[in-house]
Amino acid sequence: YVIGVDLGTSAVKLLLVNQKGKVVQEVSKEYPLMQEKAGYSEQNPEDWVEQAIAGLTELTDRFSGNLSDIEGISFSGQMHGLVLVDDSHEVIRPAILWNDTRTTAECREITTCVGEDTLLEIPKNMALEGFTLTKILWVRKHEPENYAKAKLFLLPKDYLRFRLTGQLHMDYSDAAGTLLLDIKKRSWSKEICEALDIHPDLCPQLVPSHEMVGSFKREIAEKTGLSEEMKVFAGGADNACGAIGSGILEEGKTMVSIGTSGVVVSYEANGDKSFEGKVHYMNHAAPDAYYTMGVTLSAGHSLSWFKNTFAKERTFDDLIKEAKDVPAGANGLLFTPYLAGERTPHVDASIRGSFIGMDSSHERKHFTRAVIEGITFSLNESVEIFREHGKVIDKVIAIGGGAKSELWLQIQADVFDAAVIKPNSEQGPGMGAAMLAAYGAGWFETLQECASVFLEDAKRVEPIPENVEKYKELFKLYKSVYGSTRQVN
Ligand code: XUL
Repeated sequence: YVIGVDLGTSAVKLLLVNQKGKVVQEVSKEYPLMQEKAGYSEQNPEDWVEQAIAGLTELTDRFSGNLSDIEGISFSGQMHGLVLVDDSHEVIRPAILWNDTRTTAECREITTCVGEDTLLEIPKNMALEGFTLTKILWVRKHEPENYAKAKLFLLPKDYLRFRLTGQLHMDYSDAAGTLLLDIKKRSWSKEICEALDIHPDLCPQLVPSHEMVGSFKREIAEKTGLSEEMKVFAGGADNACGAIGSGILEEGKTMVSIGTSGVVVSYEANGDKSFEGKVHYMNHAAPDAYYTMGVTLSAGHSLSWFKNTFAKERTFDDLIKEAKDVPAGANGLLFTPYLAGERTPHVDASIRGSFIGMDSSHERKHFTRAVIEGITFSLNESVEIFREHGKVIDKVIAIGGGAKSELWLQIQADVFDAAVIKPNSEQGPGMGAAMLAAYGAGWFETLQECASVFLEDAKRVEPIPENVEKYKELFKLYKSVYGSTRQVN
């Protein structure tokens, strides 16, 4: 057996997977998000650690087999979040997360000091509020006392792994989301550190995602029941792990993952292509490979916001059941999901969302459908960028919350005008982490071989031509809303 841990934004999800790739136990433990001001998004790293340990303990309690048969564990984590530790490795301040957009001034500073061309050449990404370097600069400017204490920065899953093993590492796929990595050389960029006066010692040791980086500390092994012999593998960024867990391991494959954020991820064999910074370019967690990615900041988050604000007493299933009765296009109601700004394609932290076209015939079910359609339109903007750059997308693999409902799978197929395949587990990132552990432990020669055993297509949804036509028209309208609401924001 192996364990895949996905340290997400709303919860840590743990999967116990057997040698055939079957999930035999599954545990999820939630933790809160702190949003003290508009645009702020923080979490307490101690919550991640407590809930991950509680989750591991529950997983082992529920497992009837022999715990020493669990050979390895690996991690997938929410990307970009800044965890600063002091010289005794204590956390200095709450983690500033990927969806925190307070750092617009720092993005400008990076672009001015480093230059757009260098950004597109070395980290191969533009300076956006989500990326870790912007958060480091923010702390330096606004909390100099905290910056002075900082010895090292880590990303969320690296901090969790450190607390379990006592070892400090960061893998390439997660480091690619910091803006400090030379993604082709796979090393911290001296040029960027120098341009922004960042001490290179602040950056942790880099490793590949499938590398074994230690084992559980005795007290953690005792608490969770897991063996001190169990191998711990580095793991990767959640979107890279999601790509592994949905078989995005060769050119031509594309995945759409809808969690708190939504992403469209496409495999790249090398780091040489150019998308002019319109989508992110990152190291894959699969050895030597890359991926490109468009991001919708508030995907599942828009639907949870809608439910928590207007239908607290209902479940997601209730809402989706109602929305099924509403025809494509939500009877003229249109939603843009810019609750916390938008990354792809607008790169605009200050834009806010909207409902357009309300009339008195609209009921809650129309709003639910409009929210789901609006999120999918936003993801289609990324699909469109990929197509404009020559990619053929006639099929996408769907994972995450958006793959749980038949309605949303159909809306994805109709909006993307592509077949949508749901794999046997929609838990892509956790599955990808488990696959990294299985590959790292030597169960397979390659991740592709692991994918051929672990993954299978569970469902295929074809687009409905009538809806495709309708959504093509509506998508034009959707795209025009940004420019108009930009002016009133
Ligand atoms: C990607 C991004 C998000 C987080 C969510 O750039 O910021 O998808 O990784 O966990």
